[in-house]
Amino acid sequence: MPICTSKADSCGIHDVLLLLKPFRLDRYRTLAYNCQRFSHHCCGVLSNHRGYKVVQRNTDQADHEVVIEALRPFGTTIFTEINAIAAAFDTINLSQGFPDFDGPEEIRSKAAEAIMQGPNQYISSIGLSPLRHAIARKMERFYGVAVDGDHEITVTSGATEGLCATLLGILEPGDEVILLEPAYDTYAPISAIARATIRYVPLLRPDFSIPKEELANAFGPATRCIVINNPHNPCGKVFSKEELTFIASLCSQHDAYAVGDEVYEHLVYDDRVHTTLLSIPELRNRAFVISSTAKTFSMTGWKVGYVIAAPELSRAVRLSHQFITFCGQAALQEAMAAALDFPNGYYEALLSEYTRRRDLICDALADIGFHVYVPEGAYYVLADIKPLGFDDDFAFCRMLPEKAGVAAIPSSCFWNERRDGRDLVRFCFCKKDPTLEEGIRRLRRWLT
Ligand SMILES: Cc1ncc(COP(=O)(O)O)c(C=O)c1O
Repeated sequence: MPICTSKADSCGIHDVLLLLKPFRLDRYRTLAYNCQRFSHHCCGVLSNHRGYKVVQRNTDQADHEVVIEALRPFGTTIFTEINAIAAAFDTINLSQGFPDFDGPEEIRSKAAEAIMQGPNQYISSIGLSPLRHAIARKMERFYGVAVDGDHEITVTSGATEGLCATLLGILEPGDEVILLEPAYDTYAPISAIARATIRYVPLLRPDFSIPKEELANAFGPATRCIVINNPHNPCGKVFSKEELTFIASLCSQHDAYAVGDEVYEHLVYDDRVHTTLLSIPELRNRAFVISSTAKTFSMTGWKVGYVIAAPELSRAVRLSHQFITFCGQAALQEAMAAALDFPNGYYEALLSEYTRRRDLICDALADIGFHVYVPEGAYYVLADIKPLGFDDDFAFCRMLPEKAGVAAIPSSCFWNERRDGRDLVRFCFCKKDPTLEEGIRRLRRWLT
């Protein structure tokens, strides 16, 4: 029998609903909820899903006792919550940004062979030499930037660890980090762990342009770095060379670093081009460029990422990286070294597939009645829910799986204060056509 032990009044911020029946775990799923706002709805879920025993854990108090103060405000991510709700229903999950298809078979075979042949032991902390040199060749091929594969590249466990190693390697307590809002949800917690102070500068709608005066005012003597996500998740913005040059001049003026998150570098639509921070002369010795093979090769689970920076900057990354993961996985790095050397045709085909998917979902969402911010890059689309009569993205996304059988991310989680993003919902389109088509069909059925 389903049992819900949640008590709305005594809920902590993050409650975990554990579905338990001893020794038959395969029949149950784990759901994470924000019960404080959601306990009535979660009881609704339970009554729809028989066989679940739900135990609520009040983690608010536990967090207070165990988790460092800097991390407490972040709690469990909305991605976990939405995925949990999505899992409770028959859902087309357009929330978290991972493809529902695997990358090229050739890459997977290569990794499998490498595992069978071995060795399967620790490798160099900075990553396999063939991979580092393949990254250097790709930088030259696509951007004309010469990079030293031995001294300027560090392979990390995904871009996430690259960001972590970089920020933890350069931030002192009290340093200031500038984040452009909306901001991918990793930057703030890592900066907080480093005890840095975050200064948020909101991008301006409708095209998410940089508010130049506000940004200039955010820089000051304590500024250590600015994080620039280009192409941008969630808003799909692709920053122009002119905008990046403006940021570069502020970094020079204030002796600050630029940390570029460029994981979507090969997903730039229409006639736009990706400008890596390393191609801006003023930033060549001031930028840390972080990228990943996750999105370009549709292998998000492999977590093969890297950081490129001038040798003295790379030293900071390498020092912290050696104490975070020390090194990555040999077989996956070997396979990705070969993948990066794929001919231009691979990258062109990837882009044309994603352009088609983008057009498919943007046209459909607009037709259903959303106001759509057509992305210039990456694989997400922000859709305004106001024209459909909604005004709270969290409420909308929490009911979407049950009402429509679709999952999406409330965009205001990418703003420090939810003020600017409450009307926007993020759908990802890194999915097979039938998945996207079914998601669209379900949204249309519910909303029109
Ligand atoms: C902007 C951005 N940066 C970094 C990452 C994480 O990359 P990785 O999986 O290589 O750690 C993501 C993943 O969605 C992302 O959207």
